[in-house]
Amino acid sequence: MEFLRDVVVLVHIVGFALTFGAWAVQAAAREFRFTRLMDYGLLVSLLTGLALAAPWPAGVELNYAKISVKLAIVVALGAVLGIGSARQRKSGGPVNGALFAAVGLLSVTAAGIAVIA
Ligand code: HEM
Repeated sequence: MEFLRDVVVLVHIVGFALTFGAWAVQAAAREFRFTRLMDYGLLVSLLTGLALAAPWPAGVELNYAKISVKLAIVVALGAVLGIGSARQRKSGGPVNGALFAAVGLLSVTAAGIAVIA
């Protein structure tokens, strides 16, 4: 069970890597567009995060304050990605700079809360 939890944590971190990695690729290419990979990464982070938020195996201690803040950040990320993707579909151009920056900042903040706080 302990091993299974470690595997879920690994997949959870891969979710972050997908969202942040896809964002970094867009930033480096100076395209500033939201991509499906960002959405998929977020979905992976959310689903695995919810699975990890249950106290298994018995005896695991969870920091629910950290978990709640990360959940709020993931919901905010979903909103930003949703709004930005809809706007970019309409306009055909890149997303607004503030919305684009928000995705990078929010995902790094969530990772920072997980490992530093
Ligand atoms: C982009 C968003 C997120 C990022 C970058 C992230 C990052 C991480 C990282 C790096 C870890 C491993 C380090 C640690 O154990 O503290 C972790 C663990 C964990 N995360 Fe997240 N997380 C995110 C979202 C979420 C969400 C939405 C939830 C729950 C709703 C969640 C719940 C958890 C739980 C329960 C653990 C395991 C803690 C433990 O077993 O001690 N995370 N997260």
